[in-house]
Amino acid sequence: MDSLVIEGGARLRGAIKVNGSKNAALPIMAGALLANGPTYLKEVPNLSDINHQITLLRELGCEVERQADGALKIEVTDEKNSHARYDLVRKMRASICTLGPLLAKRKFARISMPGGCAIGDRPVDIHLRGLEALGAVIDLDGGDIIARADKLVGAEIFLGGNFGSTVLGTANVMSAATLAQGTTVIESAACEPEVADLANYLNAMGAKISGAGTPRITIEGVKELTGANHTVIPDRIEAGTFMIAAAITNGEIQLPNTRLDHLLAAVDKLRSIGVIVERDNGGCTVASVRRLEAATITTQPHPGFPTDLQAQFMALLAIADGNSVITEKIFPDRFLHVAELARLGARLHKEASTVIIQGQKRMVGAPVMASDLRASAALVLAGLAAKGTTTVMRVYHIDRGYERIENRLNAIGAKIKRVNQEELEL
Ligand code: EPU
Repeated sequence: MDSLVIEGGARLRGAIKVNGSKNAALPIMAGALLANGPTYLKEVPNLSDINHQITLLRELGCEVERQADGALKIEVTDEKNSHARYDLVRKMRASICTLGPLLAKRKFARISMPGGCAIGDRPVDIHLRGLEALGAVIDLDGGDIIARADKLVGAEIFLGGNFGSTVLGTANVMSAATLAQGTTVIESAACEPEVADLANYLNAMGAKISGAGTPRITIEGVKELTGANHTVIPDRIEAGTFMIAAAITNGEIQLPNTRLDHLLAAVDKLRSIGVIVERDNGGCTVASVRRLEAATITTQPHPGFPTDLQAQFMALLAIADGNSVITEKIFPDRFLHVAELARLGARLHKEASTVIIQGQKRMVGAPVMASDLRASAALVLAGLAAKGTTTVMRVYHIDRGYERIENRLNAIGAKIKRVNQEELEL
């Protein structure tokens, strides 16, 4: 198991290319199951979650290969197996986004029910309700969701839940509705840019989707979808994480291909605490020249402040001037980073789904444990700012969502070494 050993205190300066979005690529790759013909996807990042999705697609009868130009080619060659096994689903929850495409194309899907994960309960009830509204019959057997539908018929479907809409639930229902008979209207759809990117891909395949990126999506069912070429959008969460890396080290990072329009809430918060974010050709430059101010943040569905940047902002506010408040409204238990940041000297007081952060002048390096993807990113950011050495253990979590993060940060001045646990123990 690898760890990252970080020498804190370096100011980061330079440019980093933001990779394609993991959370856009995963449902798009699943969408390729709907196609008759090959799909070519550009800007699919090289991450362990993507590799799990490739393994799953191969089990589901797809040929998947990276082309010489880096594009990922996916082509369905055998539709016999429609079973996503527990072994794969437990490694990567997003396997659930094969449910809608399999059901629509093959009329049958058997997907192991994803369990909870480090960020809390992750139910899929709304996904299932939406597919049932299209005419699917759903049963549970041996921990598997079994979904059948001789035909899907368009319907009006409400996808809101107690914590807002659902991103992958919207992806599942929207994908399934592309091949349904008649018109589907999804109300309270997730508005995340990743949903809009999936709709763009499905439309390139011949689907008729309008309104994706807004709370009402309309889908006119079509008889068949073909293969398509598509370029995945830049990863807004990776971009946000690098912006915080600039802010937390009082550095200056240029992100040449960042979609600022996908990050308005985070940029607004950064500016409000004193970070300089300047738009330039197709991207932005982020810099910080002084101690930052405190902030009050509440996570919300897009276009609100993203839960996937909550942990990273907590690391930043831990050294801001004054008391900050972060409230988590999407995953109320997503706080495993709190105890680890406290090991670095952050002063955090958690009460239900709110954390009060008493800003300190600095954090001090220590060994800490990564627990999930974004919590690990927060610990790396904290380590960049902390005095001395921080060792972030179990970095396989970070490899799920950030490609070679240490090399990319080292290229702009960070001092991070990847070591395996045995080396550490010597
Ligand atoms: N929810 C339900 N019922 C459902 C589905 C969701 O109650 O059937 C609840 C969830 O428990 C949560 C809220 O609705 O409280 C939102 O969950 P959502 O379904 O939108 O999450 P997701 O689609 O499973 C995606 C991202 C997450 C990101 C969330 C929220 C992917 C692969 N994952 O998950 O990304 O946090 O949307 O924006 O797209 C990450 O990248 O680190 C990550 C966890």
